[in-house]
Amino acid sequence: MEGLGTQLLPPEGEGLHRAVQILRAGGLVAFPTETVYGLGADARDDEAVAGIFRAKGRPSYNPLIVHLADAAGVARYARMSPVAERLAAAFWPGPLTLVLPLARAALSPLVTAGLGTVGVRVPAHPVAQALLAEFGGPLAAPSANPSGRVSPTRAAHVTEGLGGRIDAVLDGGDCDVGVESTIVDLSGPVPRLLRQGGIPQEALEACLGHPLETGSDTAPARPNAPGQLSSHYAPRATLRLNARAPEGDEVWIGFGPGCKDAAFNLSPRGDLHQAAARLFHTLRLADAEGRPIAVAPIPETGLGRAINDRLRRAAAPRPGGGDQGEAGNPFA
Ligand code: TXA
Ligand code: MG
Repeated sequence: MEGLGTQLLPPEGEGLHRAVQILRAGGLVAFPTETVYGLGADARDDEAVAGIFRAKGRPSYNPLIVHLADAAGVARYARMSPVAERLAAAFWPGPLTLVLPLARAALSPLVTAGLGTVGVRVPAHPVAQALLAEFGGPLAAPSANPSGRVSPTRAAHVTEGLGGRIDAVLDGGDCDVGVESTIVDLSGPVPRLLRQGGIPQEALEACLGHPLETGSDTAPARPNAPGQLSSHYAPRATLRLNARAPEGDEVWIGFGPGCKDAAFNLSPRGDLHQAAARLFHTLRLADAEGRPIAVAPIPETGLGRAINDRLRRAAAPRPGGGDQGEAGNPFA
């Protein structure tokens, strides 16, 4: 189906039916979740899953999250533990991904990159829910952006980055969380936070009743999660963090009522939910100015942890030097 262009589909009725047909035929459909848009394919179909890696230019060692309509469906693919049940009851449907021991060989091994574990999530977005219910199976879905680039929070972001490379996009408007799911690894002896995201660390710790182990800040040779790849979510421009004012010709992204001179403000009222929801779109707008970007300090609490994580990745030195070149650049 590649080469025929990417269809923009309405997120209900015929549009939804069409999306399900495409998925059943092994195609790729981007769909909204409450966090970011995902690029979906049948997680049991090797060729369909291979298509995700090809469309994104994603390295095959980086496993995909499996999306399911409800927690009851998870047991077919992963082994739930009492801790998993507790987190699922508290946060699903919602922006939490659990890494669990793989239960059976029903999924394409490409989804899990050959690991003995699988990342699973039950998304809350009504369009994702409707799609999963009608499809009736597991959807592998990474964020719907070229690998290493800024994640999409509206349908137009998806077509900017992947237009012509995927079959369809269900247009469900803006994502309201705006940063990806929090990833907790429950496959080891103790729960481990692999990626900060839409469920704050504090909320998970309150539910578990103890502090979470967190990943180290250094990038291991084989990352467990994209939060451990040092450069990720990268705009074209260089990014300077904790900037209390712009320098030179920098585009300044502010946060809170103090940043009156900012070109963009993630949340003039200093609200972290609003800032997370606006983060990726604002990075794209600032990047379109073609100048270096500076970002005001963001509190390291609640959703601020996920925002700061994404900003640090966006500011990290890029592999092969400052410029990643035009290949795979969604802004080009
Ligand atoms: O909010 C989200 O999580 C979005 C929406 C679409 O659901 N998805 C998303 O997928 O952010 P992605 O692929 O961009 O990031 C998920 C990451 C993978 O890159 C991988 O590193 C990690 O989750 N992951 C998946 N399976 C894993 C596993 N078995 N063990 C460790 N990490 C895993
Ligand atoms: Mg991603």
